[in-house]
Amino acid sequence: MTIEIRPITRAEATEYLQVLPYVNGFPQEEPEPSAWYAGRAVNPPQRKATPEQLDQYAESLLTDWFRPQAAFVDGKIAGGSAIVSVELTLPGGRQVPMGGVTSTAVLPTYRRRGLLRKIMTAMLDDCRERGEFLAGLSASEATIYGRYGFSPATFQHRWEVRRTDVAFQTPFTDPGQLELVDGAEAAVVWPVLHEQVRAVRVGEVSPLPGKWSGLGDGALPADGSGPAYHLIHRDAAGEVDGAAIFRLPWSPDPEHAGELQVEAFEALNQNAYRALWGLLLDFDLTKRVVAARRPVDEPLRWILTNSRALKLTRTRDNLWLNILDVRRALEARTYSATGALVLEVDGVSWALDASPDGAACTAAPGARADVSLTVNELGSLYLGGVRASEFRDAGRITEYTAGAVTRLDALLRPDRAPHNAVGF
Ligand SMILES: CC(C)(COP(=O)(O)OP(=O)(O)OC[C@H]1O[C@@H](n2cnc3c(N)ncnc32)[C@H](O)[C@@H]1OP(=O)(O)O)[C@@H](O)C(=O)NCCC(=O)NCCS
Repeated sequence: MTIEIRPITRAEATEYLQVLPYVNGFPQEEPEPSAWYAGRAVNPPQRKATPEQLDQYAESLLTDWFRPQAAFVDGKIAGGSAIVSVELTLPGGRQVPMGGVTSTAVLPTYRRRGLLRKIMTAMLDDCRERGEFLAGLSASEATIYGRYGFSPATFQHRWEVRRTDVAFQTPFTDPGQLELVDGAEAAVVWPVLHEQVRAVRVGEVSPLPGKWSGLGDGALPADGSGPAYHLIHRDAAGEVDGAAIFRLPWSPDPEHAGELQVEAFEALNQNAYRALWGLLLDFDLTKRVVAARRPVDEPLRWILTNSRALKLTRTRDNLWLNILDVRRALEARTYSATGALVLEVDGVSWALDASPDGAACTAAPGARADVSLTVNELGSLYLGGVRASEFRDAGRITEYTAGAVTRLDALLRPDRAPHNAVGF
């Protein structure tokens, strides 16, 4: 058996696509939208892609931002994955290049023989050569990617609230205006709004080209969740400062009828946040609201009279990070405090001198480490989404200097929990 790992040519694009589960009708990720909307929507059966669809997908594959690698076994493609070139927003606001791992699959008959390991090695080498010091992905199963150095860095919640339980602590007069718009207008609003969001939100990812173009076509999903409705908010000057996408799916089950599902929600300020939720949580003839893929530090709970009304119904990791160059990664972000620590990462010591303005990180061979960890823990800590103290108490970070873990947490923790609403 000969194995070759290499990028594909245009002529090989269709063969490459055929290893991907969704093209074969096999499960790839947990089914959407039921996984995020409490399992009430009916997902249509998976179908194999038609030759026309394959041609269409193949056409769109070979762009300069999609960098596929395939495993050829005896000359035939048995597995593949790809890196997409995206940007990640770091604490301090820098938007740095990140290699986003996507479209990963090995044919069922070739699994567990090390093909993904070989593909991943080639892809991460490619990232390093291009100067990408971070790689990221979202994982179908949590057991796959730790071995390559990836670890969960951002998390998401789904919550729900019954309409009859909603009351706001303080009255609110909106200085702006809400508006329902069509998909074509939403497709213009969302890219601009998201750029403003990702400029300041730690963990946010740049959208892939074409991300918002589907909003305009008004296509109905096959699962019965109904058309998307587009709500925007304008400030007193008429500028869009928030938007939401929601659906009102039909259900044959009276228990679940009257549900309003919020698929996307962004607000640039407190007024827009309060106004948009005010309408969505009190939409006539609905019973409850389900919001998916929300930040773990959603402020909404704290403006409700009954903070228990907002019930968390799901939590999941979202962005997994892999730090490919410790020095560059630690120097690229800013810190919440000033302090110095020696971190031993996979046996190599680094002296970190951090401050709210940035950091210097230098190799410190022989220096006495304050804490020791692996690149996995560092990936989870990097955006501040997990506390070092959690890893210490789980036995995954060793603290050599008393108090060093607390100091590390004080340096790393950003103002808000990192969150990415956009994936790849
Ligand atoms: C995930 C997938 C691509 C792995 O490919 P593969 O070629 O079988 O992986 P490898 O043989 O290189 O596995 C490397 C290691 O990961 C382990 N591994 C791979 N997939 C795993 C899984 N789903 N669960 C647990 N362990 C897994 C292997 O046992 C092996 O362990 P080892 O290093 O200790 O020997 C393949 O199983 C697949 O196509 N799954 C369905 C689609 C999917 O989930 N894709 C990922 C989308 S994010």
